[in-house]
Amino acid sequence: MEERRINVVVNEEPKSVDVEPRLLLAHFLREVLGLTGTHIGCDTTNCGVCTVLVDGLPMKSCTMFAVMVDGKSVTTVEGLGLPSELHPIQEGFREEHGLQCGFCTPGMMMASKALLEENPNPTEEDIRWGLSGNLCRCTGYQNIVKSVLWAAEKLRSEAGAISR
Ligand code: FES
Ligand code: FES
Repeated sequence: MEERRINVVVNEEPKSVDVEPRLLLAHFLREVLGLTGTHIGCDTTNCGVCTVLVDGLPMKSCTMFAVMVDGKSVTTVEGLGLPSELHPIQEGFREEHGLQCGFCTPGMMMASKALLEENPNPTEEDIRWGLSGNLCRCTGYQNIVKSVLWAAEKLRSEAGAISR
């Protein structure tokens, strides 16, 4: 199949890559760019483990073709924080034990990032609704909700410190 050149910014790094039009975004991220933090669990838009941000909006990358992000910016879990400098959402999942096997965690974190950008002070119900497209087979969700509440509070306190 004829390839097409796409220009995309991934985790703030510009990429220019030839891809087949049938290549899914999830496979592009994992197999072409080596960003294996984005998981694949179902391929049918059900589980949300493949969630990334495309121009800031949460998208299930198993349901998009790579050519659809031409000219856009993509953020994966690798772009969230560094092991030495975790994002507050990553800290929240660590502090509140928001994971067990961790398979759903990258998608949960990216969906949480979009949620907290839209709503910095969510209720527990807001979080459950915001993460309703992401499935977890281990935790029972309670600690995931607590993790996002923890992150929301930390992000608000950081924003308050900056504006003072
Ligand atoms: S792998 Fe994309 S929603 Fe399950
Ligand atoms: S921690 Fe195992 S699937 Fe969520």
